Amino acid sequence: MASFKHQRAHDIDLPRWLYAVRTLKEEVHVALFPELQPSARVLLGPGPSNVHPRVMKAMLSPVVGHLDPDFVRVMEEIKKLLRIVFQTTNEITFPVSGTGSAGMETAMANLIEDSDEVVVAVNGAFGERIADAAGRLGAKVHRVEAEWGRIVEAERLEAALKTARQPKLLAVVHAETSTGVHQPVEELGALAHRYGALLVMDAVTSLGCVPVEVDHWQIDACYSCTQKGIGAPPGLAPITFSERAMKVVRSRKQESRSWYFDLAMIERYWGPDRLYHHTAPISMNYAIYEALRIVVEEGLEARFRRHRANAAALQAGLQAMGLGLAAQPNYRLPQLTVVQVPGGIDEANVRAELLRLFNLEIGAGLGVFKGKVWRIGLMGESSKRENVMLMLSALETVLAAQGIEIERGAALVSADHSYSCVQ
Ligand SMILES: Cc1ncc(COP(=O)(O)O)c(C=O)c1O
Repeated sequence: MASFKHQRAHDIDLPRWLYAVRTLKEEVHVALFPELQPSARVLLGPGPSNVHPRVMKAMLSPVVGHLDPDFVRVMEEIKKLLRIVFQTTNEITFPVSGTGSAGMETAMANLIEDSDEVVVAVNGAFGERIADAAGRLGAKVHRVEAEWGRIVEAERLEAALKTARQPKLLAVVHAETSTGVHQPVEELGALAHRYGALLVMDAVTSLGCVPVEVDHWQIDACYSCTQKGIGAPPGLAPITFSERAMKVVRSRKQESRSWYFDLAMIERYWGPDRLYHHTAPISMNYAIYEALRIVVEEGLEARFRRHRANAAALQAGLQAMGLGLAAQPNYRLPQLTVVQVPGGIDEANVRAELLRLFNLEIGAGLGVFKGKVWRIGLMGESSKRENVMLMLSALETVLAAQGIEIERGAALVSADHSYSCVQ
């Protein structure tokens, strides 16, 4: 018998042995990584919100090539649907591949050149981000700050536009998700134009929830997301540019600082040239297509009314529970309510209990408001009467368990009353 010492590798059937080891490993790996089983939550935070089953179904459609004639047709329909939702006739209207932040980068990286002067309204975390992005792109940033929870007054924005040297942009957040403030923007386009600047508006938390009238309000660049008022998963950033903005983009002296978000190239993919720039996320585009169809089916006015009615009921209920709201009265968003955490309450524990007992997600405070507020979203598909009632009774239960004195049932009665007033 030949000793093992003298056996050559192929005599001991190395390939079969390696195969056996690999198979064993794969079994071990599969056991370590079980199938996905995320819970179906009630999403009442600042986004993502719940997704309509029709949108999930659309995402199961066959993936085709990003230049397939079938996909090109979907691209064209998405552009038309987005124009309806943005209330614009802007030719350059499409979904950027990326989340809401990709929309912000696209607007800023295409409109700003080195040393441009820009005025940014900063009254929360997302205004702060715009100022940060503009600074990174080489702009001189004039920050116009307001206390968190308050709007930025138009007079103060005008004063900054006057101070700036040839201001290029005025940038504002329409719905400040960190505070729940609804910034008045109707007059800001005309104001910016009087000073030769363009108006850029973050509509990440507003599109599909409250009116966003791009043409009427003379907005030059407006970006949003898919996971809030539109009712799809996160992944795309609808954006639109006015002709005035496109003139600025087309007469740039420098190339855009961003390759991925360079409109000059992306425009040739989303426009008639169909020139490859990047591979569009096919299934996400199916999702936005179906979600926009649902928005248009419901009708914009009806959708805004639904958001207002549910928010009024929620806010009435929260106040009946004795809770304070962080945003200035008369400027509160219907789609996002920022609630002050009562003294002596462990805010993270309340959120954890809502999730554990009621399968319900709400958001924590950001930045200045960290630990001080909860953020309750009623956006898109999540803005429903049943969710309002669930939210109020769940919060009441969890707060009562933490020892807060609450008149049980008062919140639900107030919410009910609020609904009866709008019917
Ligand atoms: C007002 C606002 N702007 C921008 C963003 C960033 O969007 P995303 O997280 O989709 O990148 C958010 C996210 O919540 C937001 O609320």
